[in-house]
Amino acid sequence: MGITGRLLLKADHALPIAGSVKARGGFHEVLCHAEQLALSAGLLRDIADDYRRLASDEARRLFGKHSLVVASTGNLGLSIGMIGAALGFRTQVHMSSDAKAWKKKRLRDRGVEVIEHESDYSAAVASGRAATAADPLGYFVDDENSPRLFFGYAVAALRLKRQLDEAGIRVDADHPLLVYIPCGVGGAPGGICYGLRRLFGDAVHCYFAEPVAAPSVLLGLLDPAIPSVYDIGLDCRTEADGLAVGRASEWVCERVRADVDGVFTVSDESLFRDLYRLHRAENIAVEPSAAAGIQGPARLMHEIAEQRGSPALQGHLGRVTHIVWSTGGRLVPDVEFEKFLKRAEIALKETNYH
Ligand SMILES: Cc1ncc(COP(=O)(O)O)c(C=O)c1O
Repeated sequence: MGITGRLLLKADHALPIAGSVKARGGFHEVLCHAEQLALSAGLLRDIADDYRRLASDEARRLFGKHSLVVASTGNLGLSIGMIGAALGFRTQVHMSSDAKAWKKKRLRDRGVEVIEHESDYSAAVASGRAATAADPLGYFVDDENSPRLFFGYAVAALRLKRQLDEAGIRVDADHPLLVYIPCGVGGAPGGICYGLRRLFGDAVHCYFAEPVAAPSVLLGLLDPAIPSVYDIGLDCRTEADGLAVGRASEWVCERVRADVDGVFTVSDESLFRDLYRLHRAENIAVEPSAAAGIQGPARLMHEIAEQRGSPALQGHLGRVTHIVWSTGGRLVPDVEFEKFLKRAEIALKETNYH
């Protein structure tokens, strides 16, 4: 079955400053914290005050006494590191073994302290949490348990709705919206899905995309005990660094269990092939993690053809709008992107696919 309906890309890979979807949650959380500190110190009188004060020298002096700590596979660290450094916080990023060297360098160049771990993401989170507990002026951005990150991501739903309205694209029971989002610990896709469901109700269907080796949210949605991917014999190894997460956020899974329509997994080879084809067709450069949603429309159409898709979609397939969420890529250096293309060429040759 071919792909029917309209196919659009939500280009969060092009977001300014941090170059990924993690800017949405990360900036929101750090600004909430900065606002709270400024209100307590009397730097802001109340929420009607002039928020440009947050960028004043006085605010920098205040924030400079406080530390921000985060653990990351790369992009959340970039997001927190950039905004933290801009506001004057002492910022420390605990990077898991999957994080790419260029992301660490970019942060160090901005004066952010980067602690490298040989362990995976969950262990990096535990180290970051422990490091913050020892600092009375420390604040830990907890990717596994953060309403502030989650609701920052959820705001993307309002932005998307405005864009759809401006483009005259209807979303209702007869014109379903199908959204495919790359997924790591669950915060970004979970928040977006939560926001979309609040705005569009049953007219939106959200599908999360995870690496074959790291389907942590798939497991977390199925089982409230939140097993890790290691428990089922997987190794969590993937070139999709942002999605290399062994155990999902329990907090997120609880919130979105009833809202997510499906999860699919993609191999690394398929990520590189899709990244290559997107670049060739549209001249858009994304990182491997951000290509995970591209297989979504074809996968869903296949499920429907096999009578496994959602019955609510039957009869509307010609009127659906597919949104593939591309979640990162703007900051990838050219030489790194060239390596992705080379790897894709090998994958394409091996499958005889052009
Ligand atoms: C490019 C990219 N896409 C998607 C995600 C997934 O977000 P989350 O870990 O909140 O599920 C990440 C996480 O770092 C990412 O870097």
